[in-house]
Amino acid sequence: MAQIFIDTASVEEIREAASWGVLDGVTTNPTLMMRAGAADLKANTLKIVEIVQGPVSAEVLSTNAAGMVEEARDILSWSEHVYVKIPTTVEGLKAMKEIASWPNGRINATLIFSPTQAYLVARAGASFASIFVGRMDDAGLDGMEVVRQTREIFDNYGFDCQVLAASIRHNGHVLDSLLAGADILTVPFTVLQKMIYSPFTDVGVERFLADWEKVAGKE
Ligand code: G3P
Repeated sequence: MAQIFIDTASVEEIREAASWGVLDGVTTNPTLMMRAGAADLKANTLKIVEIVQGPVSAEVLSTNAAGMVEEARDILSWSEHVYVKIPTTVEGLKAMKEIASWPNGRINATLIFSPTQAYLVARAGASFASIFVGRMDDAGLDGMEVVRQTREIFDNYGFDCQVLAASIRHNGHVLDSLLAGADILTVPFTVLQKMIYSPFTDVGVERFLADWEKVAGKE
């Protein structure tokens, strides 16, 4: 089964999505924190963990391995549900290798734009490989092909790193990620709403109710 994460730092959106009963986790990043007006990463992350007892990702801000490792030590101590998001750079890779050796070394390798990056983060011990599909499509590349190729590579070698389709922009990305065998999809709240909505369903409900009124009204 593919898991559904929500890609937001907004506690209101997370609470609403969780109430639907199909939410498995949450991903945040500094941009999403800024949009949610959440300046305190720890406080906001812990609020999210109270709502969703699944994987909740919080991102480091350091750009060198030592700084990332130090931040990760703190972030991972907040809750057993928290995963630390590390960017897929050379420094990030070094940090991942170190963090993955800890008993609580839960890593979401972020900003992945190629299957070779995904292969390396799996080798370094990341739990999730976050592939930024929409940003590649924005640049005229085929983001979904990276998801497909990463799926194949992880299956070829039996990596237990999970393929996470991120930067999802629309329902087409959701469908293609599911068909490509992504383990996790992280979707903005607006896309989650689009996943459930069909005007035909609403028209169908209205028609059933109207027809029932016709027959019930006769009794
Ligand atoms: O959480 C990371 C990713 O999903 C960001 O997406 O829309 O900023 O490209 P976006």
